[in-house]
Amino acid sequence: MTTRLEIRRPDDWHLHLRDGAMLKTVLPESARHFARAIIMPNLVPPVVTGDDARAYRDRIMAALPDGYTFDPLMTLYLTEHTDPDDVAAAHASGLVKAVKLYPAGATTNSASGVRDFDRVRPVFERMSEIGLPLCVHGEVTDAEIDIFDREAVFIDRVLDPIRRATPGLRVVMEHITTSDAVDYASAQDSTLGATITVQHLMLDRNDMLVGGIRPHYYCLPILKRGSHREALQRAAISGDPRFFLGTDSAPHATHAKENACGCAGCFTAPIALACLAETFEGLGALDRLEGFVSLHGPAFYGLPANTETVTLTKGAPQDLPPPLPVEGGSSVTVFDPGRPLHWSVL
Ligand code: DOR
Ligand code: ZN
Repeated sequence: MTTRLEIRRPDDWHLHLRDGAMLKTVLPESARHFARAIIMPNLVPPVVTGDDARAYRDRIMAALPDGYTFDPLMTLYLTEHTDPDDVAAAHASGLVKAVKLYPAGATTNSASGVRDFDRVRPVFERMSEIGLPLCVHGEVTDAEIDIFDREAVFIDRVLDPIRRATPGLRVVMEHITTSDAVDYASAQDSTLGATITVQHLMLDRNDMLVGGIRPHYYCLPILKRGSHREALQRAAISGDPRFFLGTDSAPHATHAKENACGCAGCFTAPIALACLAETFEGLGALDRLEGFVSLHGPAFYGLPANTETVTLTKGAPQDLPPPLPVEGGSSVTVFDPGRPLHWSVL
């Protein structure tokens, strides 16, 4: 039985760090294990221009405690007013590694997102020319489409038409949740990548809804039925380099989650690696963990894999971290996968 695993230091290809007091609380939790992360731009107001991204990166680096190393890979929030020249300049300077597409209204702080996809075509065309990836929150927002179908419908109605209209555009299907997304991604060329979260690999909608509603499992795209979770697991352990980790760790104050109208997002960063080791081991695929967390993502983004390593060890089940305090009096509750975690990161 394997009880020790040394892998290249991982990266997180989809992360919410927020700002201010919450940033200070959550940043060390990612920096402890991950070398780099693609930083989501859905602040209020959003990170829209190259200047916004530069200022946000400076705030992140200022919040990093001494002794930690971490490289935030910045993204721009795509709006119908985004200037292709500003995007190209932010990319050329090395600051920005992706542009994020939120369909307007799809999720937390997405009100400034895109309603009419034709209006952002010039940005897509420029991104295709310069090889800058588009990270996509892939859900339609039409009120008549059931929340459990929104990802599958998005692929047919929005994603595939965008990719056909802009050949060569590099696209990351973010936080995929369905077998439809796995099937679509598996059939594409290397311009397409897809990230998968911890919670979508470990849980399905029964875990969220049977025996009581568990607000800390509520995220978007919402957890789907078990057969979809199994398709995601198969993709994650397949060794196919199109699939890689994006935790979508998305902290909200505990009171905003445990609420009559709770916010979407699972704060997984502190235990993401432990959860993944447990999951991959359970699937008999620990040998595929390094590819998923440390190799496939850099390859897609055209970056070198990290040279340092981390060591995971297996022992007695650990206690979950308590809620972390946030300056100002609130706290943020760490994701609990509802099963013992035996792996820890040295
Ligand atoms: O669950 C989610 N939380 N999904 C998202 O797309 C956004 C995120 C957040 O920012 O809280
Ligand atoms: Zn996200």
